[in-house]
Amino acid sequence: MNRIFSGIQPTGNLHLGNYLGAIRNWVALQKDFDCIFCIVDLHAITLPQEPAALRSSTREVAAAYIAAGVDPDHCTIFNQSTVPGHSQLAWVLGCMTPLGWLNRMTQFKEKAGKQRDMAGLGLYSYPVLMAADILLYKATHVPVGEDQKQHLELARDIAGAFNRAYGVEYFPLPEPQIFGTATRVMSLRDGTKKMSKSDPSDYSRINMTDDADTVALKIRRAKTDPLPLPDSVEGLSERPEAENLIDIYAALAGVGREAALAEFAGAQFSQFKERLADLAVSVLGPIGAEMKRLVAAPDHVDAILARGAARANAVAEPHLAEIYELVGMLRPQHAR
Ligand code: TYM
Repeated sequence: MNRIFSGIQPTGNLHLGNYLGAIRNWVALQKDFDCIFCIVDLHAITLPQEPAALRSSTREVAAAYIAAGVDPDHCTIFNQSTVPGHSQLAWVLGCMTPLGWLNRMTQFKEKAGKQRDMAGLGLYSYPVLMAADILLYKATHVPVGEDQKQHLELARDIAGAFNRAYGVEYFPLPEPQIFGTATRVMSLRDGTKKMSKSDPSDYSRINMTDDADTVALKIRRAKTDPLPLPDSVEGLSERPEAENLIDIYAALAGVGREAALAEFAGAQFSQFKERLADLAVSVLGPIGAEMKRLVAAPDHVDAILARGAARANAVAEPHLAEIYELVGMLRPQHAR
């Protein structure tokens, strides 16, 4: 059966990139796949986190999934640390991942910065844990934004390495699902930089819980160029801010780039931005309001996470037993 696994780190404000690049696609895919959506708290601690903030952010990410339309009765929603199999499988997979593969990962280079010797081992082996997340459930498909592509290629390589090492076809090679017009939403302050939770400027991103006035203000302040909007996709080249805003509009409206451009060809940014702000508010407003309602009633979210953890463990435990068996771990029976 086709199974989806995907996840988001509980490390601060969820933004439009997380919504358009990931969560919205999950909502569309949940009808056709067995879906497991995780809040990856173990990944979050690869960089320092304040414990209380990590806990509340974990609930907030769960609330975002539910508020955006992921159905907890149909999909499994849980936080990673409640299923020990993730860490256990990450160890096994780490033992067959050459350092050379990890040295190629651009995210480590970006996050470790100049002081690479001071970066933690967890940050370095981050992609191995991510491979374990996916492979623990033998997931076949992984819907993510463009920035996760390299990690997913590594997950496929690791799955292949395991299968070859033990002469089995145990793990399916997971397929990335990177689709839509907003696979890489860019910063509102700089169209060449990715919209990100860690950008120091809050004006660089639209948060899923921003109120209507804030969304409108951020869009009004978004960087643009002095030209009117072009009438063709070619006219967007070398205009990263125009391209980004058109892509955001198209994604929110559920139309292609061409259709968005046909609507605004020759228009000034001021006019376009007003329409974009109205559209963004109409899509994100109800989701943000529902997130706030859910976060204010944490028992409901916690119950969904507990149910999800039980379901996830029920899939993970037999897989881990099979993996240990393949690897040759002795499982002594209790003496009678
Ligand atoms: P994270 O938490 O950085 O991002 C969560 C999801 O949002 C997407 N995304 C974006 N999409 C479009 N434009 C953007 N500006 C943008 N920013 C973020 C990401 O591509 C991602 O889909 N390593 C992962 C979490 C993870 C995971 C996994 C994902 C851990 N294990 C297993 C899939 C499968 C991460 O840090 O995502």
